[in-house]
Amino acid sequence: MNRAPEHVAIIMDGNGRWAEARGLARSRGHEQGAAAVRRAVEAAVRLEIRTLTLYAFSADNWRRPEAEVNALLELFRSFLEAEGERCLAEGIRLSVIGRRDRLPDGLIRAIEHVESETAGGRRLDLRIAVDYSARDAIVRAAAAAPAGELSREEFRELLARAHHADPATPDVDLLIRTGSEQRLSDFLLWESAYAELLFVDVPWPDFEEADLRRALEAFGTRDRRFGAIPTAPAEQHPAVSDAFTRIEADVTIIGAGLAGLDCARALAERGLSVVIADRKRDLKQGVHTTGIFVRRTIEDFSLPPSLLGPPVRRVVLESPAGAQQVLESPHDEFRVGRMGAIYEDLLQRAILAGARWVSGATFSGARACERGSLVKLEIGSERLLVHTRFLVGADGARSRVAAELGLDTNRETIVGAEEVFTGVPSQGPPSLHCFLDPRLAPGYIGWIVDDGRELHLGVGGYADSFNPAAALSELRTRVAPRFDFSRAELVEKRGGLIPVGGILPRISTPRGLLIGDAAGAVSPLTAGGLDGAIRLSRYAAEVLAAAVERDDPSVLALYSGAEYQARFLSRRWMRRAISAVRSPLLVEAGCAVLRTPLLSRLAWHVFFGRGSFPEPDRSGLARLGVAEG
Ligand code: FPP
Repeated sequence: MNRAPEHVAIIMDGNGRWAEARGLARSRGHEQGAAAVRRAVEAAVRLEIRTLTLYAFSADNWRRPEAEVNALLELFRSFLEAEGERCLAEGIRLSVIGRRDRLPDGLIRAIEHVESETAGGRRLDLRIAVDYSARDAIVRAAAAAPAGELSREEFRELLARAHHADPATPDVDLLIRTGSEQRLSDFLLWESAYAELLFVDVPWPDFEEADLRRALEAFGTRDRRFGAIPTAPAEQHPAVSDAFTRIEADVTIIGAGLAGLDCARALAERGLSVVIADRKRDLKQGVHTTGIFVRRTIEDFSLPPSLLGPPVRRVVLESPAGAQQVLESPHDEFRVGRMGAIYEDLLQRAILAGARWVSGATFSGARACERGSLVKLEIGSERLLVHTRFLVGADGARSRVAAELGLDTNRETIVGAEEVFTGVPSQGPPSLHCFLDPRLAPGYIGWIVDDGRELHLGVGGYADSFNPAAALSELRTRVAPRFDFSRAELVEKRGGLIPVGGILPRISTPRGLLIGDAAGAVSPLTAGGLDGAIRLSRYAAEVLAAAVERDDPSVLALYSGAEYQARFLSRRWMRRAISAVRSPLLVEAGCAVLRTPLLSRLAWHVFFGRGSFPEPDRSGLARLGVAEG
């Protein structure tokens, strides 16, 4: 087993592909690359690496499009200007190796300034290679060599001078290349003569401390003989002996649905370190919601309009016998979100703000520890231990996080199932049809949302008296004379548990809190569940940020579901009444009453009123001096 490497060099590859895979400009990949550089430097200090050389710009990179080159040079300048003070404070000596004669003046000034400012740093020698080519440096060193015999040591000195390096720098022990390619690309060819080479698939913007630790672990197992015979085993590096890969976070969120993703984005944009984990690898899979956004949500939160379907202003209530009651609004009341795309958009924004996304991860428990919780995640055969200040359950109606934190769990749920079609010709203006029929949907309703582009056909009901697949096919048959499914394409099937008991009273402890379905934040009666998911998760983010900033877990007590109970009381009773009526005849009579002018106003209000989810009471935060975020 080798000791820790003294000199680690990294070819930071994969920025461009990272960005392209997310539909972003390559320069965004480089920006994220700069964030990964900061993380790697911090990790190198912790792992007691003495010299870290990062390949930022090769002499051949001048051949890239001018705009990309300029963006990179500008990024280096701003990085050097921003990092100088931090390096000075942390004892890091920062220098740049490579040619300087082709660099812009502003960059040269920044290099000279940071080099003189940090020259005394002894903890880490951080070298950034810019306009660097190992072969050029060798040629220039050779050209500068005096006539006659030359020792390796003498040549080494000449070589260092040829690219502004310190001749005292040790040779490279470990050379890592990220981004799946296996080449040296003209990097430190002389200095890496006996380096151990490690090629990893992670693209540079995703490179984390855990990856560096794994690399050191791999280095530790390599048998370095330098051309000689095996050496006696050396002591293992203490920093890499954990069985788990361990990372730190202010907040760890389990569940990447709307509430979890939105909360992660809000926290990361406030500068907190956030981990968001989900079983899913692809956010477009396993969507649990129809995706109806109500007017209030659309007005209050900036949802990208391109990810919402056309506006719906019309609701049609349909009785068991097929009598219709049309409710019209002068406003755009609902829009159906393209949920997979909305999730991906939120995730991208969270990642760009610095959140760490752990996909394919099963939450396998959490235990209290000093300053928070240790959260266990399993990703295939890998295990990740997150030491987190706060844990957030955004893991659905049957939240495991709720159970782990000893918080309330949903008792009353119904089962929802839905099919999403394209290619069904529209029947009039975009409409939401609600089918009130206990044979079809015992305790709840059937629905069709037809916004002219997508048609969502769904049913909900109590699990004990309901077969969702049979009910879906029954509804399809029932509406077949009106909706032509002959050229329809079934693009998605959705399903899941919907909590209908209203928001749970105990949704926070000093260790964490619940959001979304886990908190029961779904309106017990109508569309508008997503409003609660967003409104509550924004408030949760404000409370969590205040707790982190004040380093005070007791702030989480401000996040309570008890205050909402009264607001949901009338809706809960209406739900109970609906679920108690299991006779189609009674429902038919109820529908007739609903069509009378007075009750028709009430129905209008239920669908188009603006009270789907109460605004959280921020007075507690205001008392702490927290401005609304
Ligand atoms: C290779 O990825 C990366 C580069 C050419 C630039 C490296 C720059 C950074 C990491 C940015 C910040 C650096 C500092 C020191 C602030 P690529 O663009 O070749 O990616 P691709 O192979 O996926 O196209």
